[in-house]
Amino acid sequence: MENCFDYHRATAHTFESVRKPHYLDWSNYPSPYKFYRGVRRFKLLPFNALTQETLDTLYRLCGEGATENLNLQELSNLAFAMNGITKVENFHGEEFGFRTTPSAGALYPFELYFFVRDIPELPNGIYHYQPYDHSLELLSEGNYFNSLQIALCSTVDTNVVAVITVIYSRSAWKYRTRAYRYCLLDAGHMAGNGVAYLSSVGLDATAVSLFRDELLNRLIGVDGKSEFALCTLMPQRPALYWGEKFNPPDVFPESLPVVRKPVVYTEIEEVHSLGNLSSCEFYRNIPASPEYFPETSSLDFGKTLFKRRSRREFTGKPITFEQFQFLVESSLLCFPADWGFPLTNFYLQVKNVEGLPDGIYTVVDGQLTQVFSGDFSREMAYLCLGQGFVAFANVNVVFTYSFEDPSCRRYRGAVMEAGALGENLYLSAESMGLGACGIGAFYDFDFKSFFNLQNKEMPLYIITVGSI
Ligand SMILES: Cc1cc2nc3c(=O)[nH]c(=O)nc-3n(C[C@H](O)[C@H](O)[C@H](O)COP(=O)(O)O)c2cc1C
Repeated sequence: MENCFDYHRATAHTFESVRKPHYLDWSNYPSPYKFYRGVRRFKLLPFNALTQETLDTLYRLCGEGATENLNLQELSNLAFAMNGITKVENFHGEEFGFRTTPSAGALYPFELYFFVRDIPELPNGIYHYQPYDHSLELLSEGNYFNSLQIALCSTVDTNVVAVITVIYSRSAWKYRTRAYRYCLLDAGHMAGNGVAYLSSVGLDATAVSLFRDELLNRLIGVDGKSEFALCTLMPQRPALYWGEKFNPPDVFPESLPVVRKPVVYTEIEEVHSLGNLSSCEFYRNIPASPEYFPETSSLDFGKTLFKRRSRREFTGKPITFEQFQFLVESSLLCFPADWGFPLTNFYLQVKNVEGLPDGIYTVVDGQLTQVFSGDFSREMAYLCLGQGFVAFANVNVVFTYSFEDPSCRRYRGAVMEAGALGENLYLSAESMGLGACGIGAFYDFDFKSFFNLQNKEMPLYIITVGSI
């Protein structure tokens, strides 16, 4: 494998590939929690925030917020917004916790860490967030912000930085080599929730995905192979920093493996390492705020976060043009990240939107533009491996990416962007009483032909949205 275009093509689903027998090893079902031995735990406060309403929050994601230190309540809220448990179900006699952030197959490959300083109730240090009991686990005590600045190639002016990692084996247990895509999408969804929370309380928020991988992984005590950092979140805009004296902790507490028998996919480790950066020679391009903020009325963000689920029970009833407009504008037009937004393109397959002829649309220079006219709902469901509910959606958003530059760091950003915008769509839909569901399973090449995608443009992800 030379680059990420090769990886993406090699992990495409085809009519034949999805029919090859593949048995899941239930005796090796991955633990959705990472447990450390012998760590000091600090209970976090229950989510409690006066948040702005969801649509307004999403419209303003790229706007300027305040750069302030977080207090314990805000840190608790941020951790919960990114990886808290919002629903518990009985699963073969055991309790299973569904999270604020959706995840392909509910396998939750992601983990969440925090660098913390100057919060009176917590020692300065590096922490792991334990969703199981909504606590922080102290991995190493001390102020590591100087080393963090070196790893991130960025100044850090605030007191909390979140780091999203993935343990890919959880997802690969089911999805094998294709799992790297789902890890990136899931991480993007998590970044989406974190950014939205910070923005909903008037704070600045940036997803910082460009950093020196080896240094950041060492700082949180992960090996960079089986578990690796994908994205960080800061309540400020990053400014370039070159520093010296990188001092990671000497030892980290031991953690238990998440699978009984190792699940190793060298292709995933290889493709991930192809995107690693070791110097600060990169350019951060963070999008500016759009200037248009319409009057909206929707559920407040905190309530939407608790209510959000993947919805598949679409009624097929029409949605209004205003709902469609709010959905698209609030979710897809900006995301405050440093990977070079927008890296993805999107197409909208529309059915039963009042005042808009059925068809496939895209947005060119801010204008909704029809690409094909007609009802393509059945074709869409077929392309999504025959997932029937997709045909009842009002809007199916297809994210694509052009591999003209096959660099794996750019690819990381693009797939995370699709996940982050996907999370915006979930939140936006939920806040207007609609439902959304991510679709990671589709026939890649058939999509490419059906949408007439040119050259190296390939589909990355689909989000289906409908009335419920
Ligand atoms: C990247 C990604 C891909 C997904 N793919 C599918 C899919 O193909 N079909 C489906 O029905 N659900 C899909 N889902 C939804 C997950 O199954 C769902 O998020 C998970 O079961 C947790 O449930 P929740 O979202 O209601 O909390 C996907 C979610 C994500 C984030």
